[in-house]
Amino acid sequence: MKITVFGTGYVGLVQAATLAELGHDVMCVDINHAKINQLNDGIIPFFEPGLDQLVERNKLAHRLSFSLNPKECIEFADILFIAVGTPSYEDGSADLSAIETVAKTIGNYINGYKLIINKSTVPVGTVDLVKNTILETLAENASSYVQAMNSNDKLASILNRDKIEFDVISNPEFLKEGTAVIDSLHPERIIIGSNSKKALSIMRKLYHSFTKKGIPILEMDVRSAELTKYAANCMLATKISFINEMARLAELLGADIDAIKAGIASDSRIGPSFIDAGCGYGGSCFPKDIQCLINKAKEHQFFPHLLTAIEAVNSEQKTLLVDRVLNYYGHDISGKHFAIWGLSFKPETDDIRNSPSLTVINSICKLGATCTAFDPVAITNSKQYFANNQQVTFAESKELALIDADALIICTDWQQFYEINFDILKTSLTEPVIFDGRNLFSLADAIAQNITYISIGRKPVY
Ligand code: UGA
Repeated sequence: MKITVFGTGYVGLVQAATLAELGHDVMCVDINHAKINQLNDGIIPFFEPGLDQLVERNKLAHRLSFSLNPKECIEFADILFIAVGTPSYEDGSADLSAIETVAKTIGNYINGYKLIINKSTVPVGTVDLVKNTILETLAENASSYVQAMNSNDKLASILNRDKIEFDVISNPEFLKEGTAVIDSLHPERIIIGSNSKKALSIMRKLYHSFTKKGIPILEMDVRSAELTKYAANCMLATKISFINEMARLAELLGADIDAIKAGIASDSRIGPSFIDAGCGYGGSCFPKDIQCLINKAKEHQFFPHLLTAIEAVNSEQKTLLVDRVLNYYGHDISGKHFAIWGLSFKPETDDIRNSPSLTVINSICKLGATCTAFDPVAITNSKQYFANNQQVTFAESKELALIDADALIICTDWQQFYEINFDILKTSLTEPVIFDGRNLFSLADAIAQNITYISIGRKPVY
């Protein structure tokens, strides 16, 4: 099938490469010249394991190409995915201007039946917005053609004259940064929200190879699909904030969060995933999506208590490591120097958006401390973020970051941080103290190594 994907961010680029891998002919279009030039030169604009090989393989097979020309891409394809960015406004609502621009562009160049698919995470009602924007654009373009008619007749006449037919549906994405390629090639489910039979039958063909592998396709109405995406992310964030609140209680009551996790995870209704206590969730999705859903609820005069609490618990959790540091040093850390391990909001990504590490570093710097940070891939992004902050320096390895620091603070659970050499740690730090926001080590190891080890939801080791 011939497909165009609007947007070359995480969602758009991974979706385009996946569809090409499934054997479809895919064009990717973006307004960002630099990005398209990079992609044409074989450079992926962000770090995502395995994506470079997937893109390269499909480019070489002539199934995937990149363009700056939306007209060419719209005329080429029968299926148009919209995967452009939807940043947040201050009040948490989604800025849909990029989506509207794409819809207008489609209205300008549509040249026959098109199936238009919302892939970006967008508030409930965005399928209708895209549909109406395309219709309005068509009407504007043809206003001279049928000025005398009323608007409904006008639209019907335009569509009929140009044989323009289109459907807009929702097909939300569930991939995770860091494992986006695997998630996209092996999805656990596919959600299709469509009120059109024709669109549904095209979607079944599009994802036929997934169905053959036994991957379930869940068909539903448009608005349910749109809300399913938010429900999934909010549920996951709920699990994290819940376990983090339990971790706080465990500390106060002399219990251990690892034992509690094991105890509840063995109940199949709860399960073991997404209940690791830590220094809070980050990234571009959970914080943004929860705010957006809260905002949507308020538009309907409904106050979502639970959603509001998830965010409140998380904001507090992100300050926990700094509270621990302050408690340990008697509330004065001015002049102290810290080693920071982990800048990205989670492993296997260079994304630092809303990362707990930013809260930690900004707070300790405000209190007069300095730090040297290490991250396996997020240093370039972090250097930009901290460009005006002289108190933050960067090291080329986790060991170099430790030299002459007063303590180590761990913000991200990168695999290589589990493989710690305690001897190097003890000789590098002025005092062997670890504040661990990801519970990487066992308390028994910390005791055996004579390390002061302060983690989350567990007894501190002194
Ligand atoms: C999230 C969802 O997991 C995806 O399903 C969804 O498609 C995506 O948002 C999106 O909407 O685009 P992502 O933001 O890439 O994916 O990251 P996650 O793997 O969900 O992790 C989010 C945060 O939760 C990280 O900071 C991680 O460290 C934290 N986390 C995760 C915990 O603190 N504890 C856990 O047990 C699990």
